[in-house]
Amino acid sequence: MAKIKVLTDEIKFARAATEFIVAQAEDAILQRGYFSLVLAGGETPIKVYALLSSDAYRTRVDWSKVYLFWGDERCVPPDHKDSNYNAANLIMIRHLPIPESNIFRIQGELQPTEAAEAYETQLRQFFADKPWHFDLVLLGLGQDGHTASLFPYASALTTPSGTWVTAEYVEAVRGWRVTLTSDVFNQAETVMFLVAGSGKAERVHEVIEGEYDPERLPAQRIQPHSGNLIWLLDSDAANRLQNR
Ligand code: 6PG
Repeated sequence: MAKIKVLTDEIKFARAATEFIVAQAEDAILQRGYFSLVLAGGETPIKVYALLSSDAYRTRVDWSKVYLFWGDERCVPPDHKDSNYNAANLIMIRHLPIPESNIFRIQGELQPTEAAEAYETQLRQFFADKPWHFDLVLLGLGQDGHTASLFPYASALTTPSGTWVTAEYVEAVRGWRVTLTSDVFNQAETVMFLVAGSGKAERVHEVIEGEYDPERLPAQRIQPHSGNLIWLLDSDAANRLQNR
């Protein structure tokens, strides 16, 4: 059952997300000695990433024990304005005492299918000696119901079971994307959607309360097998929810 938390403004939204991430990191590092975090792309998490690297929060986490991954990436170089890695690096990563070897970016500069294969190999190597799940996955929600780069009616939605990473040309964004599959996201200990703004309200309502239609609304595919599902919303994005 998803847990829904609504924050009244963007500052409280960003702070609540940051507090949750830090608490999850502290707990995972205490329990298992490391914390694996999958970052979301897009604009919504940027304020969260900025807070995470701020004086108020940065010192609360032992970043040498944090491993960063991405749920998806645009097929562009790592210094490109559209790169999810670049956005997180500029606002957060370069301000953190995190070893380069703890950062697992999707190599958007490679041929898309090569980038997907390379990332899947990296993930399999990382988890070879660990329980197979990410500790925390952050996801956004597109106005069309996509999440990560799992877009409506895309072939990424129907990859063979056991596929962890896939690449696809996405007509809606006129570009190639590499994305983790819903199988991977649903393995996670916790998945937290970060969604803000009135433009997402209708889709939030449909995804959470509407008819199950995972081809049209890929975000509905995110149902962690044994983990927690959390929707962190600002009041604008939650505005169409009937039950909260
Ligand atoms: C991406 C993201 C994508 C994003 C949503 C929401 O690479 O763009 O992975 O799934 O999270 O499109 O984006 P905004 O936060 O910018 O609205």
